[in-house]
Amino acid sequence: MLIQEHFSLRNHNTFHFDIYTDFFSAPQNEEEIIEVLSDVRITDQALFILGGGSNVLFKSDFKGLVLKPNIQSIKVIDENENSVWVEAGAGIDWDHFVAWTVEQGYYGIENLSLIPGNVGASPVQNIGAYGVEVMDVITQVNGIYLDTLEPFSFKNKECKFSYRNSVFKNSLKDKTIITSVQFLLHKQGELSTDYIGIKEELENLGELNLANLRRAIINIRESKLPDPEIIGNVGSFFKNPIVDKSIADKIIAKYPEAPHYKVSENELKIPAGWMIDQCGWKGKTIGNAGVHENQALVLVNKTGKAKGEDILQLAKKIEESVKTEFGIQIEKEVNVI
Ligand code: EPU
Repeated sequence: MLIQEHFSLRNHNTFHFDIYTDFFSAPQNEEEIIEVLSDVRITDQALFILGGGSNVLFKSDFKGLVLKPNIQSIKVIDENENSVWVEAGAGIDWDHFVAWTVEQGYYGIENLSLIPGNVGASPVQNIGAYGVEVMDVITQVNGIYLDTLEPFSFKNKECKFSYRNSVFKNSLKDKTIITSVQFLLHKQGELSTDYIGIKEELENLGELNLANLRRAIINIRESKLPDPEIIGNVGSFFKNPIVDKSIADKIIAKYPEAPHYKVSENELKIPAGWMIDQCGWKGKTIGNAGVHENQALVLVNKTGKAKGEDILQLAKKIEESVKTEFGIQIEKEVNVI
């Protein structure tokens, strides 16, 4: 049964909202995807392509088809003495893929350990953490156009990657389904340990190597970020805003300890989590929705009974406080459906 009707998405969104979709399908290859999209029951329906459900907030039940590509293969497509080209299916759990690369001794995505979601979603918002972004290692993204059902292959440049952004969130939004992603990884390499906290964590683990760096990243993430299996969340709820230097300078004059990163000559990035924390939100709860105790950028389904609206109301209050205190309008990172 390729298409299921009136299907609960509770286990397919990491907020664990108990919401339903009219139709659901998790096809395992390109042929099945085309078969589902050609089915007469759904040709006029709204369509939503779901990855790991770790970056979406459903406001209510979904009227239409939720399609979750479940392509699971990992293939080495080319290699030489130093490098390896790997193609991974869209449905593979991102962290399983990272674990596999580390086991093989392939360098490149170890800093992206434990990010929730699937391989197919990783290019959409150009996932990043601890000094590495997935755009650094993606060589090609393969998929199918939803209107013509024709295949496409985009090289890295054509994906127009930037901070938490790509062509798949802009001109191609809702127009494609990603089926696999190709990565260029290396058989030896430099480990990226400059992000604050990594070196300290590594000291407790002994030798600096690929497996220990993965372990260090996992330890850091587990100490700051809640496990969605235990408490529903979507990681960073907001993006870190990029602001004009003049605005950043005023903030730094008032808060000399404010963390900030240079983006260009005239722009700086100020962590939204820090601003939300300064506004006193860390650990606060309103009804069923809350702000995580260890990382104010993360909103949580505190009681397990929250609905999309509960989280959105809390988010609105947080946006207002940050605007009042810092004069900055922060934007959501999560995809609201
Ligand atoms: N900070 C606070 N209070 C907080 C949270 C942060 O003062 O409640 C301060 C920290 O002390 C630090 C700075 O803000 O000085 C930055 O915090 P952190 O290193 O935790 O990173 P972030 O900017 O809040 C980003 C990504 C995360 C990623 C981390 C590590 C975004 C929107 N988020 O968070 O990504 O794991 O860096 O690289 O860019 C995700 O996208 O789901 C995610 C978790």
